[in-house]
Amino acid sequence: MTPSDARTPGYHPFGLPDLRAAIAERFTRRGLATVPEQILVTSGAQHALTLVLGLLAGPGDRVMVENPTYPNALEAMRRARLRTVSVPVTDTGWDIGIIEATLRQSVPQLAYLIPDFHNPTGCLMPVPDRVRILCAAQRSGTWLVVDETLADLALDVPAPPPFASHAAPGQVVTLGSMSKTHWGGLRMGWLRAPARLVTELAAQRVATDMGGSVVDQLLALDLLAEGGEVAPGRLDRLREQRAALGAALAEHFPSWTWRSPPGGLSLWADLGEPIASAPAERALDYGVRIEAGARFATDPGVFEQRLRVPYTLPPDALREAVQRMAAALADGLPRSSAARGPRWVA
Ligand SMILES: Cc1ncc(COP(=O)(O)O)c(C=O)c1O
Repeated sequence: MTPSDARTPGYHPFGLPDLRAAIAERFTRRGLATVPEQILVTSGAQHALTLVLGLLAGPGDRVMVENPTYPNALEAMRRARLRTVSVPVTDTGWDIGIIEATLRQSVPQLAYLIPDFHNPTGCLMPVPDRVRILCAAQRSGTWLVVDETLADLALDVPAPPPFASHAAPGQVVTLGSMSKTHWGGLRMGWLRAPARLVTELAAQRVATDMGGSVVDQLLALDLLAEGGEVAPGRLDRLREQRAALGAALAEHFPSWTWRSPPGGLSLWADLGEPIASAPAERALDYGVRIEAGARFATDPGVFEQRLRVPYTLPPDALREAVQRMAAALADGLPRSSAARGPRWVA
């Protein structure tokens, strides 16, 4: 931060101009020509999603969502009183025929998609599927809200170009974040949308927080200027951690199955029977926080045979965590959940 920054009032509802320019340049570098006027800097991708839901949809409107999907996105939709219409994502990805039919029959106002290393399955949507969804959404007049929070965590494949690079102008709102590439505690994210929409969204965000912290934005600018889309060494560490977690799970839970995802942060393990919630709960007593599949479901009673197991810790810590999970499973019921406080899913 320079003394000249401190001499301004410090309110930037659109985001710091230099940071907007750096994010726009990042999109352009990834294959989607972007100007700063198309960027709104937000306090994370979740904040961006909440703003978009508030502006583009109203209570009772339909939103197409993947099932499973990111639970905090579902929660934001519930709180906005939107009606979700779900489409499945399996271990092999999306069924584009179902998505086309859903867009045609339900004509949702919005569709929320995580095409890049989908949370929680880790799937990457092929380009022809993206193009088919874009065509179908154009026919139904549906805004596509594309969450690219995980797009740069490409471990086995090149990082995909932005979804909107295949789209007609004005059809897609893209959400992005530094939470997974750098650190969640930064609370730094953005959205890319038509400039007219960005202006309306900035007016809406003034009503909630006036603008983000300038100090945090200057830090984000420094990190982005360091070059590369991801913090140095992060992808190599994730590959090593993914391998360590896979090996530990195979040793302790030989009957579980999972597909090694081409990117992202977690394995979507199949336990073979619908028993995941109890062990996830029990593991908390052993200091291991792990999410049962049901948390990612749009409707109750599904994905009970799944656990999302993240490989976000160093290999030794992952091995220890899997050992503790095995101990938790071998043990009885949870002791007490009273002292654990509220839970949320990153
Ligand atoms: C798909 C997805 N979207 C959004 C978020 C939240 O991002 P942020 O921390 O930038 O609000 C996460 C965090 O896990 C995520 O996985």
